[in-house]
Amino acid sequence: MGIESADEVHDRTESGIPPIKRIVVNGEMPPVRVSQGEANGAPTHIAESFVIDQGAMAPAWTEERMKVESLGVRFDRKEAVKDVSIEVNSGEVLALIGPSGCGKTTLLRSLNKLVDLTPTAVRSGRIMLDGQDTDLMDDTLLRKKVGMLFQQPNPFPMSIFDNVAYGLRERGTKRPGKKELEPIVVDALERAGIWAEVSDNLSHPALSLSGGQQQRLCIARSLAVRPEVLLLDEPCSALDPISTAIIEETIVELKSEIAIVIVTHNLQQAERVADQVGFMYLGDLVEYGSVEQVFNAPMAERTKDYVRGDFG
Ligand SMILES: Nc1ncnc2c1ncn2[C@@H]1O[C@H](COP(=O)(O)OP(=O)(O)OP(=O)(O)O)[C@@H](O)[C@H]1O
Ligand SMILES: [Mg+2]
Repeated sequence: MGIESADEVHDRTESGIPPIKRIVVNGEMPPVRVSQGEANGAPTHIAESFVIDQGAMAPAWTEERMKVESLGVRFDRKEAVKDVSIEVNSGEVLALIGPSGCGKTTLLRSLNKLVDLTPTAVRSGRIMLDGQDTDLMDDTLLRKKVGMLFQQPNPFPMSIFDNVAYGLRERGTKRPGKKELEPIVVDALERAGIWAEVSDNLSHPALSLSGGQQQRLCIARSLAVRPEVLLLDEPCSALDPISTAIIEETIVELKSEIAIVIVTHNLQQAERVADQVGFMYLGDLVEYGSVEQVFNAPMAERTKDYVRGDFG
């Protein structure tokens, strides 16, 4: 990629607002990421968009996995998520931040249609996975491709091995034997960063592991079925700082192969692990951009207040 092949576009608005700079290399100009609240008004921010040829030059980390288009979720009359559009890319960690009750979990649970299991939930808009409308996909298949981890680790009351093998055994009619499963289980435990701690006894009960180990075991269980996207809903909130650091390290290592969305109340954690950040407030996606932009140069006043810790 030669930067000299780029077209540079500088727009200056009448109000003296700083320029929007876009560099386009062999591609179409994408919509600039803007705060939804400002989408219909004058631009009030600097934005940079880079489009790189989606051919061999494109690094894996820019690949789009999921696209959320105008997602709305209501529970009875309560609007939990309002007209949210966002992308989930492999090679990136997307952190969703925002005060309690702003719709982070609801957005996350929409990505694998878990929210549809709530009888009062009404969902609108479209969610695409690899270009396919998730509403046209089989729910079980979708949930294998889009795995989810919760705040409290929830290993099954069985051995470490059987926990990780669980999803593989559920697949298809012919149950694979232990020999067949072993390399996949070991690989998943290695990728989840827990192999060294459990390798001596995989028949050990999962419930006897520490909270941090249980959470990494649950990551291994999700990874074993080869998901494309991993959804993590406050995965470290019940863990001590050391376990948290190990899980954060695991997240960063996994992002080269998997798209990760993490909901967190811990802003330092979002800064440490995220590439993109979405700030939600009362169901709106107020701001969505790179971690540097959202934390160092937030566009919306609400984001500014939140990342400064003025409310939460
Ligand atoms: N099953 C449900 N039935 C009714 N209302 C719900 C349900 N789940 C969520 N809500 C409502 O939707 C809104 C968003 O909730 P959600 O759990 O998505 O927020 P959140 O940002 O994850 O909050 P927290 O940070 O506290 O986990 C809240 O007002 C909540 O009360
Ligand atoms: Mg939540």
